[in-house]
Amino acid sequence: MRKLFLIVGLFMTLGISAQDIALPKPVKTGGMPLMEALNKRSSSREFSTADLDNQTLSNLLWAAWGYNRADKRTAPSANDKQELSLYVVLKSGAYLYDAKANKLVQKAKGDFRKQMGKQDFVGTAPVNIAIVEDKTKQGAGATNAGFISQNIYLFCASENLATVVRGWFEAKDVKEALKLPENMQPVLVQTIGKRK
Ligand SMILES: Cc1cc2nc3c(=O)[nH]c(=O)nc-3n(C[C@H](O)[C@H](O)[C@H](O)COP(=O)(O)O)c2cc1C
Repeated sequence: MRKLFLIVGLFMTLGISAQDIALPKPVKTGGMPLMEALNKRSSSREFSTADLDNQTLSNLLWAAWGYNRADKRTAPSANDKQELSLYVVLKSGAYLYDAKANKLVQKAKGDFRKQMGKQDFVGTAPVNIAIVEDKTKQGAGATNAGFISQNIYLFCASENLATVVRGWFEAKDVKEALKLPENMQPVLVQTIGKRK
């Protein structure tokens, strides 16, 4: 019993609730040489159903939209508005990527992958990342989302993962799955997984 209290206390101190996913530190070195990754960048619509491990997920999210300076990120944004957030949909639930804390904050429990798009692979691939814009910031969300997407493409090329960015989704379904407030609008959704 005492052990249980200690564990709960530790989680509370760290600000992690039981359903959040604490990510391991992203590895910011290595990978494929840039020119080779560019040469391999491509869209794929064939995904293994196998989950990605948390280290790969952490590296992927950091590459996509992590902090590479105190308050600045791996992708640019017009006027540094940083109006975009990444929501990660896994088999276990829908999560907000908290890049500062390096964790996935659970927004909803359950499998919402099918709601993330119209194509058949969307519901079975292990990871869908929704790039979501805060409309109140009046930024250049659609343009900035493209940079995040390309970061994901290059990471996937480097790690030999399959990925495709998608504009074909029902915004209403995505908003519902992610429990988004009115001002938050999905711009693109990108599917990621191991190659089949
Ligand atoms: C803004 C945008 C939206 C896209 N939407 C979809 C989509 O909904 N479904 C899909 O399968 N591919 C989608 N794609 C991927 C393109 O079809 C793909 O990039 C194109 O066929 C070129 O292939 P490549 O990425 O392998 O060079 C989209 C790409 C972009 C840039």
